[in-house]
Amino acid sequence: MTNLKIRKLKKPFGITIQDIASDKSISHRCVIFSLFSDKPSTIFNFLLAQDTQDSLNIAKKLGAVVEIDENKTTITPPTNILQPDEPLYCGNAGTAIRLWAGFLSGCEGKFILTGDEYLLKRPMSRVVKPLCNIGANIKDLAGFAPLTILGNTHLKNFSFHSDIDSAQIKSAMILACIKGGQNSTYKENNLTRDHTERMLDCMGANIKTENGKIIISPTKKPLRPLNITIPADPSSAFFFAVAATIVPNSQIVLKNISLNPTRIEAYKQLENMGADITYINKENTYEPIGDIIVKHSSLVGITISDNIAWLIDELPALAIAMSIAKGKSVVKNAKELRVKESDRISSIINNLKLCDICCEEFDDGYEIQGSGKFQKATINSHGDHRVAMSFAIAGLLSGMDIEDTDCILTSFPNFRSILRSLYQD
Ligand code: S3P
Repeated sequence: MTNLKIRKLKKPFGITIQDIASDKSISHRCVIFSLFSDKPSTIFNFLLAQDTQDSLNIAKKLGAVVEIDENKTTITPPTNILQPDEPLYCGNAGTAIRLWAGFLSGCEGKFILTGDEYLLKRPMSRVVKPLCNIGANIKDLAGFAPLTILGNTHLKNFSFHSDIDSAQIKSAMILACIKGGQNSTYKENNLTRDHTERMLDCMGANIKTENGKIIISPTKKPLRPLNITIPADPSSAFFFAVAATIVPNSQIVLKNISLNPTRIEAYKQLENMGADITYINKENTYEPIGDIIVKHSSLVGITISDNIAWLIDELPALAIAMSIAKGKSVVKNAKELRVKESDRISSIINNLKLCDICCEEFDDGYEIQGSGKFQKATINSHGDHRVAMSFAIAGLLSGMDIEDTDCILTSFPNFRSILRSLYQD
């Protein structure tokens, strides 16, 4: 178990970061979606972090050939999905296990999906139930992984309105339909990240969204392969956006970030708190991509209760900004935080208390009284990469000792080297 000791940063920084980790959500999808084609998919800037390497290994066990040449990853799909002779390991990744569950439900064969100690504690009924309702054969352990799937290509049609806003549930259902289902529709209360819809549409799948309803038909023939350059992950970049906002006189340029509106809501809320943020749109392939410039500014507290799915992954880092802001901040309607890589409501609030921040936990969120400063503390990541990185950013102001930081490697292998660069002239 590695620990991270963060020193207080004694001077401002002004840097451009070219190598924020590539987008995790899109990388997982590239691996799975490439198996819908009969030709090799070419992926530039695939995220080579633990979570997404685990997804690549699953594709290999299903018969894909993966070649990695510097920043170019080629995935050649098998003619038929092979039945693996061992469990498919999804590591720490909820996205991997839930999306693979949807995909494999519609493939002939027996597949076992499992993961690390944290993933085995996260709820799986949210995908297992709707998939079983359309005829998938999935056995779980009282709602938890491992999942044993006996796939079949004769799934039923569905018209599903999810009561949980989750891109993972949405994607699992779409993948099951395309692989082995019938004409179907999927509706969510609030739009969640829409990479699945965008990417499958570009691959030629029968998928369209009308009046907030996604209409999907199974594919009769193989889809076009992907030829994609994955943008940097806005959730990973956000740690450094918060860093530039809270370290006096600092400025950062974050290059080639996904500017997909379903992914940059945290930046918008940080702006609502007073942050100085500029977006430079550069291209639009699969999704809008550009640079984000963030300059230090003083912040005020805010209440966030809407569009939670659009900033769910950034709430831990936003909590650091809320602790520095003037006045009270409140987060509501965010119960989903309790079933992420850790119970993020507890892990954020308990660790903030250790840093002498006045805050209170609610069932579906929290309240933070901004104090302008942190007390250096020893905090525990609870095995959650975003908790570890958020408190590392807080440590720039006060110093911080963070226990159990191996988890950072699941999404952002070069986080520590970028953090170190803030200390250089
Ligand atoms: C993800 C969706 C979100 C997010 C996760 C990645 C995805 O989860 O928290 O980090 O790639 O689809 P939910 O859709 O379950 O909220």
